[in-house]
Amino acid sequence: MMKRLSIFVSGNGTNLQRIAEYFKGNNDVEIVNVVCNNPKAYSIERAKNLGIPLRMITKAEFNSPEFTEEMRSLNLDLIVLAGFLWKIPASLIQAYPRQIVNIHPALLPKYGGKGFYGEHVHEAVVAAKEQFSGITIHYVNEIYDSGEIILQAYTALEPGETPDSLAAKIHKLEQAYFPVAIEQVLKH
Ligand code: GAR
Repeated sequence: MMKRLSIFVSGNGTNLQRIAEYFKGNNDVEIVNVVCNNPKAYSIERAKNLGIPLRMITKAEFNSPEFTEEMRSLNLDLIVLAGFLWKIPASLIQAYPRQIVNIHPALLPKYGGKGFYGEHVHEAVVAAKEQFSGITIHYVNEIYDSGEIILQAYTALEPGETPDSLAAKIHKLEQAYFPVAIEQVLKH
């Protein structure tokens, strides 16, 4: 049976691109749509170029019961948050228990929660002089960044590390591990 994915994005979409390319030609996995909340996101271009249907959403729509119903009607196996920055409404989480995964650019539970996203995370990690950072791929529950962890991968901070240089290392880890983790989750 074909596994059906929806990918939620808010920004550049490098993870979206990588996931779509990883599953291209895979007859077992279909990316049904991309859901985007940001009209300025480069992800929009990427979804178009990848030929994946795009669903733009407003906050009111996103939090409405109709949106959960709309997602249900797609018969999804998994929702992937790939740099998606809104909190997921409880109704959607309840509709998809252990079927929503997120990637976070730090080693949760550190540097998680509201306000910790994208470069803000790397700035905080560098400012705290941490020896390590990394990525956390986890299931989404009703509390921000606290669902069950599926996978963590680490990278060391080096002398002179900047938020930008750390971000580049984190992106490499994301590119390497996110599609593989998704594939594993789909097998269970
Ligand atoms: C990624 O680094 C992802 O880990 C992070 O946003 C970036 C999106 O990049 N997610 C969060 O901070 C979630 N709290 P992308 O749009 O190029 O995939």
